[in-house]
Amino acid sequence: MANNVKLEVKFSGIDTKEIMLQAEQVEKIHQELRAKQAKENFLGWLTLPTSYNKIEFEKIKKCAKKIREDSDVFVVIGIGGSYLGARAVIESLTPTFYNLLPKEQRKTPQILYVGNNMSGTYLNDLVELIGNRDLSINVISKSGTTTEPAIAFRFFREFMENKYGVKEARKRIYVTTDKEKGALRTLAKKERYETFIIPNNIGGRYSVLTAVGLLPISVADIDIEKLMAGARFAQEKYSEENLKYNDCYKYAVLRNLLYQKEKNIEILVTYEPKLHYFIEWWKQLFGESEGKEQKGIFPAGAEFTTDLHSLGQYIQEGRRNLFETVINIEKQEANVQIHFDEDNLDELNYLETRTMDEVNHKAMQATIQAHTEGDVPNIVLNVDKLNEETMGHFIYFFELACAVSGKLLKVDPFNQPGVEKYKINMFQLLGKPGYEEK
Ligand code: PA5
Repeated sequence: MANNVKLEVKFSGIDTKEIMLQAEQVEKIHQELRAKQAKENFLGWLTLPTSYNKIEFEKIKKCAKKIREDSDVFVVIGIGGSYLGARAVIESLTPTFYNLLPKEQRKTPQILYVGNNMSGTYLNDLVELIGNRDLSINVISKSGTTTEPAIAFRFFREFMENKYGVKEARKRIYVTTDKEKGALRTLAKKERYETFIIPNNIGGRYSVLTAVGLLPISVADIDIEKLMAGARFAQEKYSEENLKYNDCYKYAVLRNLLYQKEKNIEILVTYEPKLHYFIEWWKQLFGESEGKEQKGIFPAGAEFTTDLHSLGQYIQEGRRNLFETVINIEKQEANVQIHFDEDNLDELNYLETRTMDEVNHKAMQATIQAHTEGDVPNIVLNVDKLNEETMGHFIYFFELACAVSGKLLKVDPFNQPGVEKYKINMFQLLGKPGYEEK
């Protein structure tokens, strides 16, 4: 199937025997995840591609259609797991300069993100960019109390009410939050906003295939049926408990074995700039899931060949505590041929009739060779092309790999206690009631 992800190990030093020594442990984790899934929180994503709420799914498509029809701009308000997945999929599957295209060409609303930082300049510039165009907003927060999106939503509610009046504003505000709990749920109920549910057994960074990601993705007119089909294919494929036949589990094992050999930084590499936000999503998924109890692989990202001219030197010759996971897209969606030039002053005629895609792949091959020879182990994840199915597949692949990897590391991959520390200090400094210094 074209939607397949194939794993390749491009380094020596860890052989099949060493990998297979983990088979028993992986099988235990496989069974533990499935046994707990029925009862415990935060494992709902494991079967989401088959068990998702079909009624909610249809409502998402219906609202997305309305938004496409009545809005020039769609503002997504959220932070962390509440926006990165949507942005990752949207930017991977729409034209590189989507937001800059004229409306007639784009045909769907410009999609802008806010509530993912505390910068007043950013918010101000965003409002200037929106101008007097028609918009809808989607505030996404599971807890409903996260400060960044809460401030942005307070601002945009007022903005919408001033622009449209309370009644019309209500028809353009979409809320994605917990089914029962939180300030956002209370507010949505009071104001009768259209709401979508974040299932309580799915945590933020595992939630892209719920309404959290699906509504914005669908507004961009990306086929969410196909996205779910890709994830479903992956769910079936990686339900194999035997490590020998499960590339997702192999990836989890490989990164843990590398970690034991002092390779404690993983760089997720792409040669396609459209995957920039997919890397950001992956960084959050692994960083928040594994970095605890003074343990964990630090997740970093790089875009080649761009970063070969910045990080390349360090990767080749700096500290030897790195490994790379390369996403290789076999076929680019568009291709450009290099033409013959009579003068050949740039000495590029040797590339005549070759394509940018071919040059990009040769650069990849050359870099993998150079880095592995320089003691930077490389794992390659090959995929035929970038489309809804492969994105769905990748999302499921990394979510499952992250859960198994966290379990191998003996941390809880579903909590994030460390994130609270800065918040407590910030609330104290800001004088939030209940956070007074003792
Ligand atoms: O993955 C996570 O759980 C976090 O990154 C959250 O998504 C993030 O902190 C936003 O939380 P909330 O959706 O409650 O606003």
